[in-house]
Amino acid sequence: MRAFSLEFRGKMDIRNFCIIAHIDHGKSTLADRLLETTGTISEREMKAQLLDTMDLERERGITIKLQPVRMHWKDVQMNLIDTPGHVDFSYEVSRSLAACEGAVLVVDATQGVEAQTLANIFMAMEHGLKIIPVLNKIDLPAAEPEKRAEEIENVLGFSAEDVLCISAKEGKNVDVLLDKIVAEIPPPGKNEIFQKFPEIFTDNEETKALIFDSTFDTYRGVVSSVRVFSGEIKKGDTFYLVRTGRKIGAPEVGFLNPLYSPTDSLKMGEVGYIVTGLKNVIDARVGETIYKPNDKKTAEKNPTPLPGYKNVKPFVYAGFFPIDGDDFPLLRKALEKLALNDAALDYEAENSSALGHGFRVGFLGLLHLDIIQERIEREFNLDILVTSPSVPYEIVKPNKEIVAISNPGDLPDSGGYIEIREPWMKINILCPSDQIGGIMKLCTDRRGVHKNLQYTSEDRVDISFEIPLSSIVTDFYDDLKSISAGYASMSYEHIGMRPGNLVRIDILVAGDRVDALSQVIHKDFAYPVGSQWCEKLKEIIPKAQFAIAIQAAIGSNVIARETISAMRKDVTAKLYGGDVSRKKKLLEKQKKGKKRLKQFGKITIPQEAFFAMMKSE
Ligand code: GTP
Repeated sequence: MRAFSLEFRGKMDIRNFCIIAHIDHGKSTLADRLLETTGTISEREMKAQLLDTMDLERERGITIKLQPVRMHWKDVQMNLIDTPGHVDFSYEVSRSLAACEGAVLVVDATQGVEAQTLANIFMAMEHGLKIIPVLNKIDLPAAEPEKRAEEIENVLGFSAEDVLCISAKEGKNVDVLLDKIVAEIPPPGKNEIFQKFPEIFTDNEETKALIFDSTFDTYRGVVSSVRVFSGEIKKGDTFYLVRTGRKIGAPEVGFLNPLYSPTDSLKMGEVGYIVTGLKNVIDARVGETIYKPNDKKTAEKNPTPLPGYKNVKPFVYAGFFPIDGDDFPLLRKALEKLALNDAALDYEAENSSALGHGFRVGFLGLLHLDIIQERIEREFNLDILVTSPSVPYEIVKPNKEIVAISNPGDLPDSGGYIEIREPWMKINILCPSDQIGGIMKLCTDRRGVHKNLQYTSEDRVDISFEIPLSSIVTDFYDDLKSISAGYASMSYEHIGMRPGNLVRIDILVAGDRVDALSQVIHKDFAYPVGSQWCEKLKEIIPKAQFAIAIQAAIGSNVIARETISAMRKDVTAKLYGGDVSRKKKLLEKQKKGKKRLKQFGKITIPQEAFFAMMKSE
């Protein structure tokens, strides 16, 4: 028996929904207009894109996080839950979707369906959400509502007639959209998740709530955004986090409108926030279940968590080194501070003989890396060098032990493992059909395996490939944009680790391995990459009194080499005329000295040289 009857659920006048949109299709503008139309905030209070709180987000025009906001429309409580727009944050998106019963799909009427729209919409469908398709920007002369509605029908299967045309900028039809949300999105309780996972409900009134976002607030500590699935979160009660078993208090609970509005409790079906008393967002991870046994003390011993929890792991690693070595403690502080609010940021100290003290930092993707790098430089005023990003590898040792490798320099020589695996992705690229050739070449040149090609409209296609993550972490996206003149969009998803013919290539300067330059790459690319690095290094390393060999090697096998010739000091300059044998003798002595130097002399490559080289990459 379940604790709540269907009639009870039906009476809850609550709608929990999110907006799904490709970057720049108008999600933030629509959110602003919804807040205004529902009278949650007046036009006067409305700063442009009020919800994009961070400067960086505003400048780049991307939204990383919107808060969940509560509005009221015709006596119905409406909770707008954010889904981060970028594919790096797809796990966060999945948890936000799990907190909703419906989604508004926003498609730019001048652009049409993009790769990311598809990725998010499929995820929303998997969660059983009711989807309301909307074409935005119909005020623009370039808008093609009929053509785009047809595309939505063809690609996503919604009837073109049901697609609502709006202008988020001018507010046109935003009230109609609000009515549609009330009429079509089911109130909490009828969500498929209830049917799909009946085991999460027991016959008592225990509380289960999903954390779908956690942020660190200087005054409140960790504040988690939650969706209550059963029971109630009352202010002052004690709760448990199912995964970690940690106890949390609830000194304050409430909702955002969009400012913090404390209440006495959050009831079943509601969305709001809870001040947890925790100090670190890692302790209140996205996807975690907040639990409280019922008053009758009939608590389950091991409560079933809400489904879908995942401990997200970094996809991309890079070394962060302070340009000024004295800044190392400041860099540590900056990372500590950023990690307070970012459970996905993973870092550990790293010591490189070439670059000094720094950190190996793990990210969800390249955008995540970019954002953290910029925040460190801007908010903490630190000048840092970021080494070229690498992906996490896995090796199987001869004793079958599997070891994760996040730093290419840590990969043992070839005898140390029997297999090496790398992460693979499935990518979908949506582009105009006349660009198929260029895009296919781009992917196959980078070890991509073609999987599918589908027309989404008469002149646009959806191409799918499986490709190693390492092939797309560096300049793939830039190349894609330039090949397609900006018309292609891409989404990706991780499909697992696969064995590969990979090797570690080392760079040796005068016989010494330069740790920061070791790379793991496919054997086929080892030679060109090795030669390229040798050539580059030749230009930046200052000459010494003896010749310096720069080598690229796989294990003990040298695959490329450059030589920096010796600086020749004119030891005979002091000789005025005289016997030629004296001159010979001096030159001979110099040669011997050089030989000794070559054997014992250390090359110290100035750190600035590395910085210069890596920056110019
Ligand atoms: P991200 O923040 O990257 O996720 O983008 P977004 O989807 O939130 O898009 P945003 O609301 O920032 O809108 C992108 C651009 O489109 C902005 O310059 C908006 O002013 C503009 N825009 C949004 N809606 C409309 C509309 O209905 N009409 C017109 N003409 N412009 C719009």
